[in-house]
Amino acid sequence: MKSFYLTTPIYYVNDAPHIGHAYTTVAGDVLTRWHRQRGEAVWFLTGTDEHGQKVMRTAEANGVAPQAWADKLVEEAWKPNWRALNIANDDFIRTTEDRHMDRVQKFLTSLKDKGFIYQGDFEGPYCVGCEEFKLPGDLLEGNLCPIHSKPVENVKETNWFFKLSEFAQPLLDHYKNNPEACQPESARNEVVAFLEGGVSDLSISRSTFDWGIPVPWDTDQVVYVWFDALLNYATAVGLTDAPDSEGGKKFAATWPADVHLVGKDILRFHAVIWPAMLMAAGLAVPKKVFAHGWLLVGGEKMSKSKLTGIAPRDI
Ligand code: ME8
Ligand code: MG
Repeated sequence: MKSFYLTTPIYYVNDAPHIGHAYTTVAGDVLTRWHRQRGEAVWFLTGTDEHGQKVMRTAEANGVAPQAWADKLVEEAWKPNWRALNIANDDFIRTTEDRHMDRVQKFLTSLKDKGFIYQGDFEGPYCVGCEEFKLPGDLLEGNLCPIHSKPVENVKETNWFFKLSEFAQPLLDHYKNNPEACQPESARNEVVAFLEGGVSDLSISRSTFDWGIPVPWDTDQVVYVWFDALLNYATAVGLTDAPDSEGGKKFAATWPADVHLVGKDILRFHAVIWPAMLMAAGLAVPKKVFAHGWLLVGGEKMSKSKLTGIAPRDI
């Protein structure tokens, strides 16, 4: 029997959790407890997102190596926080674990073998706070990220691309035929409008820093942190393992996810990039992406980067 599978985002370890992260994880805890009480098999996953420039720069600013920084934050802040809130997660995945990194490399190689990965030149604005390539129309006053209120950086590199554009129409068809796959309706409307606006291919590797998973066939590059992070939902339950192995059986009993719970800040990644990656691999897409709103401080999103977080333990 397939488990009811629910995930939270895997949170960046650039700082300790605040009540915004607690909001998502507690909501997931409530939903999964309800399904468990009904006697269903349930799998509830949370974890941490540890690669990329945001975490790397925070570690540098604190004078420690990124792995040591992540280890400290996970053991001293994130795991104790979920214990304090009595969260009944079944697993906790860290993107620096071998089980994740090995499976990401296998997945990426399989997409390349299928012809969905190619080399090209990238140039454009990037927000390290979001770890996101931005479109000029996304920015305030020409160069400010609307979420982090910080100037974006110009990235110009030769790297590897994923043929995301090939999936714009299949994704539009998917959300038209399965309106419950992206909720609430306001979130689905945003995703559909974004897809209708046209989608470019996605740069999925970086060459100017090394805090990430090496691209298996080009180890001067590391995998783009979001491509790495989104895969956690599937690597944690055995993606790419042989069907008759333990991991393969877990995957069959768990995938596709029933609900990816996320905040609206990361909706596009979950409702556009992630299902496209799965479609490319010939895997089932998540049954539902649910994007909730934000807890605000002074009218702006409560944020680790802006140091406006309220610690769950304080209240
Ligand atoms: O985005 N109000 O991690 P993140 C409500 N690593 N929810 C909030 C919130 C707020 N003010 N602030 C944060 C990342 N959240 C990526 C995710 S998933 C493959 C990778 C919650 O540490 C909400 O769920 O920035 C939001 O989407 C998430 O924390 C972002 O956490
Ligand atoms: Mg964030």
